[in-house]
Amino acid sequence: MQQPAAYGFVGAGAITAAIVEGLNADVAGPPAIYLSPRGRSVGRELASRFPNVHVCDSNQNVLSNATSIVLAVRPRVSRAVVEKLSFRPEHVLISAMAGVRLERLQDWAAPAGHVVRVIPLPQAARGQSLTVMYPDNAVARELFARVGGILVPSDESTLEAFSAVTATFAAHLDYLTTIASWLADHGVDSGAATAYTTHIFGQLGQSLLQRTDSLAALTDDHMTPGGINQQLMTELRRDGVPDMVRRALDRILARLRGEPA
Ligand SMILES: NC(=O)c1ccc[n+]([C@@H]2O[C@H](COP(=O)([O-])OP(=O)(O)OC[C@H]3O[C@@H](n4cnc5c(N)ncnc54)[C@H](OP(=O)(O)O)[C@@H]3O)[C@@H](O)[C@H]2O)c1
Repeated sequence: MQQPAAYGFVGAGAITAAIVEGLNADVAGPPAIYLSPRGRSVGRELASRFPNVHVCDSNQNVLSNATSIVLAVRPRVSRAVVEKLSFRPEHVLISAMAGVRLERLQDWAAPAGHVVRVIPLPQAARGQSLTVMYPDNAVARELFARVGGILVPSDESTLEAFSAVTATFAAHLDYLTTIASWLADHGVDSGAATAYTTHIFGQLGQSLLQRTDSLAALTDDHMTPGGINQQLMTELRRDGVPDMVRRALDRILARLRGEPA
């Protein structure tokens, strides 16, 4: 298949900035990139750093310059944005938006030839996004392979379950914040408490990335029977923390699928 000459992005915010950064990292011949005009500071900053990045004067001009179009606006404005655009059959619309179903996107973007949903991660900036994609599409695959790996679930409903899991980042970081602030409450300078907490969990993250075994086995590796890790885990389980996480994920999934909570 011939490589697409250019990528367009409608919505130039945080996730677009991460993908564009990744597309430009260590690539001898990065693709031409066309950005929509809104989100002026992000677009201007990217265009000033990378000669292959251009800010268009309208969303429609992004579609005039590229046939592979990443849609990265907030879901609430998605319909208004997409319906204003004139797509052609050669366009591939790659939606990064959470909770907007393929059927609706296909309807709004007709007669675009292909519509794909993706869940890029901010780590795209470092070429480390494991991007979930459905359905599989060669153009989207080529784009996201440049900024990490690709995972294709069996159906759209499963993609939404992956999407729900990406809602856990802030809560996870908040859990680490609780640990660091508890340490500071016990007499440790707050900078040192943060540094220590980020160090130990950064190292734990490395263990996760290098794991060869199940998560349950890794958990066992990090505790001694009767020891303090086992005690804390058992207390949190007894207090219902895992069940609360499952129920909160169920509510996120219902929201993403447009179901009543
Ligand atoms: N951030 C992530 O890590 C991440 C990961 C996966 C998926 N996503 C999805 O990606 C989408 C964007 O997320 P984000 O975090 O990048 O949001 P963001 O930083 O708020 O960026 C959204 C951008 O859309 C622009 N915009 C608003 N109305 C527009 C219009 N009519 N035409 C063109 N652009 C318009 C905004 O411009 P102004 O600043 O001028 O309003 C802003 O630059 C969301 O649907 C989200 O679910 C995000």
